[in-house]
Amino acid sequence: METRPAHDPPARSGVERLVLREVRAFDPGEGLDERVDVIVEGGVIRRLGRGAARELGGLERTRVVEGRGRWLLPGLIDLHTHLREPGFEHKEDIASGLRAAAAGGFVRVCPMPNTRPANDQGFITRYMLLRAREGCGVRVHPIGAITQGLKGEELAEFGALREAGAVGVSDDGRCVTNSGLMRRALEYARAFDLVVIQHAEDHALTAGAQAHEGPVATRLGLRGWPRVAEDVIVARDLLLLAATGGRYHLAHASTAGSAAMLREAKARGLAATAEVTPHHLLLTHAALLGYDTACKVNPPLREDEDVEALWAALADGTIDAVATDHAPHAASEKDVPFDEAPPGMIGLELCLPLLVAEAERGRVPLARLVDALTRAPCRVAGLEPPRLREGAPADALLFDPAAEWDALPGAFASKSANTPFLGRRLRGRVDLTLVGGRAAFERGAGARPEVAS
Ligand code: DOR
Repeated sequence: METRPAHDPPARSGVERLVLREVRAFDPGEGLDERVDVIVEGGVIRRLGRGAARELGGLERTRVVEGRGRWLLPGLIDLHTHLREPGFEHKEDIASGLRAAAAGGFVRVCPMPNTRPANDQGFITRYMLLRAREGCGVRVHPIGAITQGLKGEELAEFGALREAGAVGVSDDGRCVTNSGLMRRALEYARAFDLVVIQHAEDHALTAGAQAHEGPVATRLGLRGWPRVAEDVIVARDLLLLAATGGRYHLAHASTAGSAAMLREAKARGLAATAEVTPHHLLLTHAALLGYDTACKVNPPLREDEDVEALWAALADGTIDAVATDHAPHAASEKDVPFDEAPPGMIGLELCLPLLVAEAERGRVPLARLVDALTRAPCRVAGLEPPRLREGAPADALLFDPAAEWDALPGAFASKSANTPFLGRRLRGRVDLTLVGGRAAFERGAGARPEVAS
């Protein structure tokens, strides 16, 4: 379900056309990497080509943005966002979460159901979509719960969730450990063409665990969280998937073992997909050495060998998508002893700059990275991908690869600032995010930018 009509007219009076001049338009799905002019009108990309601006008769009712040195990318899609509403609005609400998404270049987000109440019924999904309509324009595609109340006991009503607008189901934050229930979930979801998104964690192996099981946890005196807690669930789920059919997606893959099993499952033709978070690509358990609760996440930050395997799996497509797992928590909740802090870090506004920097260092081809943030998540969630092509909805972002900025709390649109990247100087910044031709975010335009005008 869309949260806003695709062809909203410009809100600010008079401006009907946006011209982005001489941007580097980069869309690997379209085989496009060219310096062009892009003309946006009526919510769609009207023209895209070299010198297209010169073909315009006049510039009345037109806003021209000089794009030289900047990149136009298809808008990003986040498969894994915690918007925290209903129930935890002190951490984030739908409006602030969507502003954070837009500021990070995201045009669509899939909010996870671990709200209060959990999104396990159609009316809660509908409530989220209603609230999203009051937001900045970023579209919302909720993930419903697999089990009622995320309790791991009874399945939720997938048909009602799907009808209300859910695109997948997950008990994220908790694992569906009961094999019988997981089997039924895969079968039931298949009937409604919903993807089953697993938070892979055998809770019997992680009771009391705080950090990846290894030398850092030992040194810090924290109970260890072994890799096998994830791997044993992934192995079982892939066996179930082979028996049931349907679509399976692994949330926040964190181990070399998961990556290897997925590679093998894909080679066998199973409909298994996976995502990886920026933090599992960028950080290891060594980041915990100062007991920084901002680094406490679920699953935990692992070791170099896992990070290497995750990058390799992302590069070769074994891991389909990058998803932020944007998990805002209030400062008062994180500013406590390590074992009392909730897991999670924010990610929407840092994802693109952090990962483009890695692509430029040669960690992953830029084309694969952009695919992992645009087309691949759309494939997983069954959404139309954004495209930089004439006639397509203008869902895109303008990125300045040279801009430097400091990741300070005041720089975020999110209500929360729980990230270990706080204080870092970053290179690369989103300047403008268009959704259906409208500016969902524009740098310097204040909290509620009106339109590309
Ligand atoms: O770190 C995490 N935080 N992982 C999860 O699976 C849940 C999330 C949250 O909701 O805070």
